[in-house]
Amino acid sequence: MSRLLFSLALAAVPLACDEPDPEPFMGDDEFVRDPALDVELVSAHGDAISHATGDNCMRCHQENGPGPGRFTAAGTLHDAEGAPYPDGLVELRTAPDGMGDLVAAIEVDGLGNFYTTESLPLPASSLFPTVYSGDGARKNFMPFPTSSGACNVCHAGGFGVRLPEG
Ligand code: HEC
Ligand code: HEC
Repeated sequence: MSRLLFSLALAAVPLACDEPDPEPFMGDDEFVRDPALDVELVSAHGDAISHATGDNCMRCHQENGPGPGRFTAAGTLHDAEGAPYPDGLVELRTAPDGMGDLVAAIEVDGLGNFYTTESLPLPASSLFPTVYSGDGARKNFMPFPTSSGACNVCHAGGFGVRLPEG
């Protein structure tokens, strides 16, 4: 009875009447991911199959998303002026500034993006990112550790992950 009244009340709301249930949005637990998408995918120098530079890759490349590969760490490297910087290197370590144990080394691709599906101890542990230019001469590091590998969530807009002046 109360359910019927509720339906009638809803039906009385203009525009709400004939709308079908919305498809589960990516990121929802109900989002059905095609298991064929769970491939290994790791960026390498020169690769140009990525896209969406600067965007949060894990919006889609995750267990409830439509992107191939569940990324454990991904983002975009920039030069000092803020343009995407290709073919650099991202390291995740147990200490800042290139110190401590190396947990992962991810090559930045030819578009400035980096991504990996390799198993990482995140978010249970936190890791210190350090980034390098292609020739290793310039580096920049995060002074505190991150428990999220979704770098572009925080590094958005004018705050992209970047190298110092060359
Ligand atoms: C809005 C959702 C979305 C976002 C955000 C997104 N991707 Fe994707 N990505 C996809 C989808 C869907 C595909 C497969 C279809 C296609 O190639 O367009 C794909 C394809 C790819 C591929 C090619 C895979 C292959 O095997 O060919 C790579 C690499 C990739 N994405 C990397 C990234 C990176 C790195 C980021 C962040 C900088 C990112 N994506 C952000 C949805 C997304
Ligand atoms: C939870 C938010 C957050 C996440 C996630 C994050 N960072 Fe950071 N990062 C920051 C903040 C805040 C700073 C600035 C620290 C300071 O300057 O005191 C920073 C600084 C940096 C710096 C040095 C300064 C700069 O602007 O480049 C690098 C390099 C960096 N992060 C790389 C990364 C990488 C690579 C990842 C992904 C593996 C990542 N960060 C994930 C918040 C984050």
